[in-house]
Order: sequence, then C-alpha cells, then structure tokens
Amino acid sequence: MDSTTLHSSSSILLIFISGILFPTMAAAMGINYGQIANNLPSPENVVPLVKSIGASTVKLYDADPRVLKAFANTNVEFIVGLGNEYLTKVKDPASALTWVKTNVQAYLPATKITCIAVGNEVLTLNDTSLSKNLLPAMNGIHTALVNLNLDKQVTVTTAHQLGVLETSYPPSSGTFRRDLKGCIVQILDFHVKTGSSFLINAYPYFAYKSNPKQISIDFVLFQPNSGIVDPATNLHYDNMLFAQIDAVHSALASVGYKNKLSVQISETGWPSKGDGDEAGATVENAKKYNGNLLKLISQKKGTPLKPNCELNVFVFALFNENMKPGPTSERNYGLFKPDGTPAYSLGFNGSVIATNTTSDGSSSSGGTTPLTPQSPSGYLTISSASGKLHFAISWFFLCLVGIVTGAWELGKGGRVRLRELL
Ligand SMILES: *[C@@H]1O[C@H](CO)[C@@H](O)[C@H](O)[C@H]1NC(C)=O
Ligand SMILES: *[C@@H]1O[C@H](CO)[C@@H](O)[C@H](O)[C@H]1NC(C)=O
Ligand SMILES: *[C@@H]1O[C@H](CO)[C@@H](O)[C@H](O)[C@H]1NC(C)=O
Repeated sequence: MDSTTLHSSSSILLIFISGILFPTMAAAMGINYGQIANNLPSPENVVPLVKSIGASTVKLYDADPRVLKAFANTNVEFIVGLGNEYLTKVKDPASALTWVKTNVQAYLPATKITCIAVGNEVLTLNDTSLSKNLLPAMNGIHTALVNLNLDKQVTVTTAHQLGVLETSYPPSSGTFRRDLKGCIVQILDFHVKTGSSFLINAYPYFAYKSNPKQISIDFVLFQPNSGIVDPATNLHYDNMLFAQIDAVHSALASVGYKNKLSVQISETGWPSKGDGDEAGATVENAKKYNGNLLKLISQKKGTPLKPNCELNVFVFALFNENMKPGPTSERNYGLFKPDGTPAYSLGFNGSVIATNTTSDGSSSSGGTTPLTPQSPSGYLTISSASGKLHFAISWFFLCLVGIVTGAWELGKGGRVRLRELL
C-alpha cells in the first residue's frame, strides 16, 4: 500500500490510503465549491481536498476572500461568481470597476482567477426585471476588465439551467425556449465577441427522480446499456448527460451558433442521500454517476455530436451542504463530508483522514470551524422546478424509446400526446 502524505500550509495532515486512481484527469475536471453550510473546513484545509480529486478548476458562487487567499500559489484555476442580487448594481460602470478590483484584481496573479460567472440560472427564474439586467451586468463587468487590462486573462460568462431549452428530445431537435431566444442570442453574441464559454447546468438525476419507473437507471448512470439512436443524425447515445449536452449544441446551431462557442457543463452531479420519495439518491448511484463521469473525463471522451471536443465538466459539488433548503438530496451532492472525509469512495481506495499535525497554527481557524457567511447567490435554484418537468417528460420518452425497441414512431406520437396534456 503506498500512502501519500500531504501537508497544507495550515495544520492539516491528509493521509491518502492507496493514493489516487485518476491522476490524469487534472486537465479537464472542475469542482463546484458551494458553501451553504455552517460546518465546512477552513479554506486552507480544502486545498488538499481539491488537489486529491485532481480538479484543475474550482467554481465558486461568490468571491469569498478566504477561499481566494487560501488558494494563492496553488495553480488551481477559479471561476468566481457574482450573485444575482448584484446584477442591477454592476450595470453601473463605477460599481463594476469596484467589484472587479475588490473581488478579482486584488487576488491576481497569485490566485488564478480566469473567469467571472455573472448571475446563476437567471433566465429560468422567469423574472424579466432580473433577466433584462443580465447582459448589461456581463457587459459592465467585461468593460471593467478591459479598463484594468485584465480582459485577456479573465472572461465573463453566466451559468444557465438546462430549462433554457424548449425541446431536447431527440438531441438533434434541441431548441431554446421561444421567450428566451432573443435574450440568449444577445448573450451568445457577447460570448463570441469576448471569447467566453457558454455554461449550462445539467442533471440527469432530476429526470430520473421524476420518472424512475420509465427511465433506465443504467442510461443515466453511464452504466452499460443499449442506449438510444437519434433518428435525425443516426448518432447513438448510451447516456443521458451526453444527449443533454448535444441538445444544447443543437439549440446553439438552431440560432446560428454552430461550432462558434465552447460549451461547459458548469454543474452536474448526483446526490448520495434523499428523502423517501427521491428515487435513486443513494451512495451506490452517486458513486456510479460521478465515478463513471470522471472516467469519461479522464479518457478525454467527447459527445456523439462532438467526439473530438473534450468534456468540460464541473462536478457538483465539493461538500455536502447542511444549510441548503429543499429536499434531503439538496444537502447531499458532496464528494466530501464536512469533516473532509469522502462521502463515498470515488476512485480512491481508502479514506482521507484529516488530523491536526501541529499546534502552532494559532491564526488558522482549524478543521471544522463554522463558516458563518453564506453564499448569497442564485445557487439555491438547483432545486427550483423550472424546466425539470419538461425535461423529465422528454427524457421519459427518450428512454421509453430506448426500451421499446423499434418503436420510434410510438415514441414520437406519445411525446406529442403527452405534451398536449401539459
Ligand atoms: C482496495 O484496498 C483493499 C485493501 O486495502 C483491497 O482488498 C482492494 O482490492 C483494493 N481495491 C482496489 C480497487 O484497488
Ligand atoms: C484539531 O484542532 C482543533 C482546534 O484546535 C480541535 O478543535 C480539533 O478537535 C482537532 N481535530 C483533531 C482531529 O484532532
Ligand atoms: C418559467 O417559464 C417556463 C415556460 O413558460 C415554465 O415552463 C417554467 O416552469 C417556469 N419556471 C418557473 C421557475 O416559474
């Protein structure tokens, strides 16, 4: 058994029994570091956890100074977040400049902030007064970066919920919601002009949870299964996430942005625990979903539509977050428990054990000091229902079609009928 010992700058010793099974995935895997919890380790103690899973990029829902300081000189890249409640404010150039100076410039270059996510899942909140501020806010932040000569190293984007799509089945028929199209096209234009990526949060789990009887668990968990064929492209899909991603590519193509943008999956994941009525939220399934996903990432797999495009995925999430509202699953997406031990074994054979090694780090707050500030962002919307029913229905048929062999026509007709019922 080879054990690796890591000392962080503060007083933590992490023992990895048997080391790391995914040493090559560092190139493409990101992790969402949500902090809606009062029991998370101090950011200094999170550095080795992030390194242990081979994540090259961390996505925050705010610009927590303690995190950005703790990760200085670690080579880990950051996407920082600007919460939905600041959108109106940063339309104003002076406010945007102040925000960028305080939350980004102050940490460069020691902390490698490479992107700012302005707002989270804004468009699917269906709040037009908020939505109309999204692009102006993105523009405001970008202009501030230009004025500080940082626009070459820091890009500006926003993360969408998959519910921005109106149709997603089959993947080739992906389109954007009609009422959002105008707004989205302007955002896509912004991406092309500034060289930033299109970010989408995609959760096959939600589709499964809504229709556990109809949807093949193997299809959502990247397990061997016969999959489905998109009748328009003849492409074969053996997992739902890839089909969702290609539906996004199709939607982009449908508004004239074929092959013009890079797409990143800013959130995906699977809960390890849920309420009685939350089918599939188990340790075994979470382990399969995230474990298989990480394998695909490390193999540099692309989707059927973009086989040569590496997946750009941010797993949700680093920690279980005990203060998130909603069903039990919401508090159990973490790869790690708050004490720094894995929520389940995921490519690691053994456990990560956190202990104190020295008694001198008096200024450091220790392993389990409560974090009082909560992330003030649209992050909570992970469980908001927007779009989920629609996708559940779509995926229900996608999978039904996969199950009923040779029944494409049935699937098509059935889908139309069901949509008429909605
Ligand atoms: C993990 O370690 C245990 C003993 O520590 C060993 O029996 C098992 O085969 C190992 N599994 C893998 C996948 O390496
Ligand atoms: C680590 O140190 C903190 C603060 O001194 C203490 O509360 C905690 O119990 C220690 N943890 C372990 C595992 O020894
Ligand atoms: C937003 O609007 C869409 C389309 O009208 C609807 O399907 C969705 O449920 C709405 N979402 C919320 C959160 O109200």
